[in-house]
Amino acid sequence: MTTRKVTMINGDGIGPEVMDATRKVLEAAKAPLEFEYADAGSDASARFGTNLPDSTVDAVLKSGVGMKGPTATGIGSGQQSANVALRKRLDLYASLRPVKSVPGVKTRYENVDLVVVRENTEDLYAGLEHIVVPGVVESLKIITEKASTRICRFAFEYAKRAGRKKVSAVHKANIMKLSDGLFLDCFRKVARDFPGLEAEEVIVDNLCMQLVRNPERYDVMVMENLYGDIISDLCAGLVGGLGVVPGANIGASTAVFEAVHGTAPDIAGKGLANPTALLLSSVMMLDHLELTTEARRVERALDKVFREGRVKTRDLGGQANTAEFTKAIIDAMT
Ligand code: NAI
Repeated sequence: MTTRKVTMINGDGIGPEVMDATRKVLEAAKAPLEFEYADAGSDASARFGTNLPDSTVDAVLKSGVGMKGPTATGIGSGQQSANVALRKRLDLYASLRPVKSVPGVKTRYENVDLVVVRENTEDLYAGLEHIVVPGVVESLKIITEKASTRICRFAFEYAKRAGRKKVSAVHKANIMKLSDGLFLDCFRKVARDFPGLEAEEVIVDNLCMQLVRNPERYDVMVMENLYGDIISDLCAGLVGGLGVVPGANIGASTAVFEAVHGTAPDIAGKGLANPTALLLSSVMMLDHLELTTEARRVERALDKVFREGRVKTRDLGGQANTAEFTKAIIDAMT
């Protein structure tokens, strides 16, 4: 079997700790991967004068696959976050966040199994703001046919590949008739190419209410950037928070798999971080590389450890440190 190269971007804070744990698990799963390291984040900034060196972008472009720990963004530093810069420079247009109940992590819901597909490149996040006159600010919401069609097609293709049943377009076209109307038109056109999948439309505020009342009603959901930012965190809350949710940013020829939580400065360097989110992201990466045997191996081990509930990190109410939790996952594979 050919070995695939993965560019590892450790990031800041607990980044190196969760990345190291994930690498150990991937090696124990005998995934045919070769790891190379590249820098991003505030540590990189101190050394290279930028939080995203060109060499890092080039490395991911070349390998096609990256794994990334969280990176710190200085508030008021004036520098763009390394995450945003990486998404822009690699045109990682789709944010994919599967949200699934984790056995043993107690929440209000038991059978959540949702996927949030978020457009990553435009909408109000284009950063086009200006002062019209003092006291009046204009912020531009950019929606294009090209990006909307691309993300809707991504969602339907993903749903088909993953054996899902339904794709819901999330919008506010009743108010933003032109912009969200265009997004919805693109969704309807793409949906026609996927007759085997149910296509439904839901207004974003109604979706929020429905999600907290009855999250089992939804399957794959596709939406513009701002709605996606908010809905994906709401969904993470349904299953126990950002510590147990994986994420990926995907483009035409590159993909970066990451933990969606932050650098956790309060516990960084103490060996207490929970690597679950990044481990789940690594399962997504293995599936992306069509290493399905290894993906299921890691997934089953995580499932076993969570079901048994004996070894848990402190954030989930247990006593284990990162090394003990990682060892439990590796032991569960044998
Ligand atoms: P945070 O997610 O780092 O921390 C929030 C709370 O969750 C803290 O108590 C932390 O200890 C805990 N926590 C987070 N991940 C954990 C893990 N894996 N295991 C155990 N406990 C965990 O959020 P915060 O404090 O808002 O952000 C800190 C820094 O992280 C900021 O500089 C922010 O810009 C950055 N950040 C980076 C992200 C990324 O690179 N994807 C995403 C979010 C924040």
